[in-house]
Amino acid sequence: MATELEIHFSTSSSFSNFSILLPKPNIFLPFKSYTTSFSAQIMPCKLIFRQLFEKESSTYTYLLADSLHPDKPALLIDPVDRTVDRDLALVKELGLKLIYAINTHVHADHVTGSGLIKTKVPGVKSIISKASNAKADLFVEPGDNIYIGDIHLEVRATPGHTLGCITYVTGDGVDQPQPRMAFTGDALLIRGCGRTDFQGGSSDKLYDSVHSQIFTLPKDTLVYPAHDYKGFTVSTVWEEMLYNPRLSKDKETFKNIMQNLNLSYPKMIDIAVPSNMVCGLQETKSDF
Ligand SMILES: [Fe+2]
Repeated sequence: MATELEIHFSTSSSFSNFSILLPKPNIFLPFKSYTTSFSAQIMPCKLIFRQLFEKESSTYTYLLADSLHPDKPALLIDPVDRTVDRDLALVKELGLKLIYAINTHVHADHVTGSGLIKTKVPGVKSIISKASNAKADLFVEPGDNIYIGDIHLEVRATPGHTLGCITYVTGDGVDQPQPRMAFTGDALLIRGCGRTDFQGGSSDKLYDSVHSQIFTLPKDTLVYPAHDYKGFTVSTVWEEMLYNPRLSKDKETFKNIMQNLNLSYPKMIDIAVPSNMVCGLQETKSDF
């Protein structure tokens, strides 16, 4: 189990209500999580991983689960409202227990499926960064970890596309997936990056974020972005450091490129952003 996290067990059952002390800052959250059995600690993890695609917004949704844990706890990264039924059917077919629906940021091009998932699967908690100022059940900050069984995702702040962008990175350790996997949202796309002209965007910040939080990961770390428009599915930190036509350049060149993209106004932004600020459930009375 990670050394950064103190877990206080309230019962000895597999599914228990724990209190978790998150490492930084020292905030105390009531948290539903999972026990770590001794056998799982000494065995390599076995990640169930699926990359799912939503074609209208070219969005990737990622399903991760710990197959060795008896309950097979799972999470979805960046679910889309239109494909929630597909995703939940897959979760069911694989015998997983979905516990979290998490977002890398407040999306401007599609409505998140997090809120819809919560109405369909009781007990699922939505997660987003505190810096996003959006509503969710749980808020994460840099240095926090999100657990599904014995597998965890480290939270790294990668602002610049939006103010609250986060990259989720699988844990560092022999008991975690190898190579590591970085879910970069729109901070780093394959041979590209998210635009920086809306939602508190800043090309200066994005350059620093990617270079300090993603390009410092091991070179074989797999890069899984929130979108792809050219048919790519996965890259590596090494490839993007070498071949990303924007972020492989020096900072001034990068800022210049971003300033001169001449992109049109995002067609979904006026619908998607207000909705995603409330977990994708703007039209529905929710408990947020
Ligand atoms: Fe985005």
